[in-house]
Amino acid sequence: MKELEENIVQAKTLEDLEKVRIELFGKKGVLASEFAKMKDIAGPDKKAFAQGLNKNKVALQASFDAQYEVLKAQEIERVLKSEALDVSLYGTLAQKGALHPVMETMDKIIDYFVALNFAVESGPMVEDDFHNFEALNLPKFHPARDMQDTFYFKDGGLLRTHTSPVQIRTMLQSKPPIRMIAPGTVFRRDFDVTHTPMFHQVEGLVIDAKGKVSFANLKAILIDFLETMFGDVEVRFRPSFFPFTEPSAEVDISCIFCEAKGCRICSHTGWLEVLGCGIVDPNVFKAVGYEDVSGYAFGLGVERFAMLMHKIPDLRSLFEGDIRLLEQFR
Ligand code: PHE
Repeated sequence: MKELEENIVQAKTLEDLEKVRIELFGKKGVLASEFAKMKDIAGPDKKAFAQGLNKNKVALQASFDAQYEVLKAQEIERVLKSEALDVSLYGTLAQKGALHPVMETMDKIIDYFVALNFAVESGPMVEDDFHNFEALNLPKFHPARDMQDTFYFKDGGLLRTHTSPVQIRTMLQSKPPIRMIAPGTVFRRDFDVTHTPMFHQVEGLVIDAKGKVSFANLKAILIDFLETMFGDVEVRFRPSFFPFTEPSAEVDISCIFCEAKGCRICSHTGWLEVLGCGIVDPNVFKAVGYEDVSGYAFGLGVERFAMLMHKIPDLRSLFEGDIRLLEQFR
């Protein structure tokens, strides 16, 4: 009896105590086998034996219950301690995402033109020769095709080298008047501080009846656009050449890094080239079957805008996926 009670008190965990319970009170336990002895005990002794056994059983049950309470309380204490929550601790801050500077710049450009009622058009990145070159007055073997080092597919398809094929697709799909921009991804075989093989452009095209769209209209909208994007800058139109516009111009803004005094970024000219534009060449209208219309077009590189607006020195860093660059744009 002493020994049995000792077993109960010795149990240090609920599991140990459960083992003791089975040993003592279980179907094949000590008590059960003691009670089983009753059948072999003769008449008068039986009662005393049974009474003694029952007394022991009650005593054992009582010390079992007491030990159970102690261990249970210890267990609850342990769980509470291990799950304790310090509500005064700082939480772990969730990482906040940011728009990639190229997309943020693209959105700004799109917003400007959408506010002026330009439709946003798109076209495929895998183009054919007709839409990317031929219809844009760049016939086969035209030397101007060398301006754009192209990724070709074996079947003659190509990755579009500019967003200008969207001009052609839109003109073929709709009728004038047209007032559209085409933001999109373009590809060229170029890789250095200011070029990546994949980059983004926004194209613009406005077409209306003959005589209704002039170079003056083009100048006015681009000057306002560039002032909106870059703030207080000078804008200069410089004669240039594109096969699909005539006359053509490249547009510069006064250097925003040195206030046009001359620095490394503007190659000490005081000017930064930011886009190409012109009056749509009659051969383009011929290619899409348009008659008696006039129009202007422009195209710009979004990465270049992002670089200038955020003073990012190496254009390639925009595509390295380094989180430390993105963290600066939260
Ligand atoms: N497509 C030209 C380029 O990629 C840009 C451009 C578009 C120029 C429209 C004039 C008019 O360089």
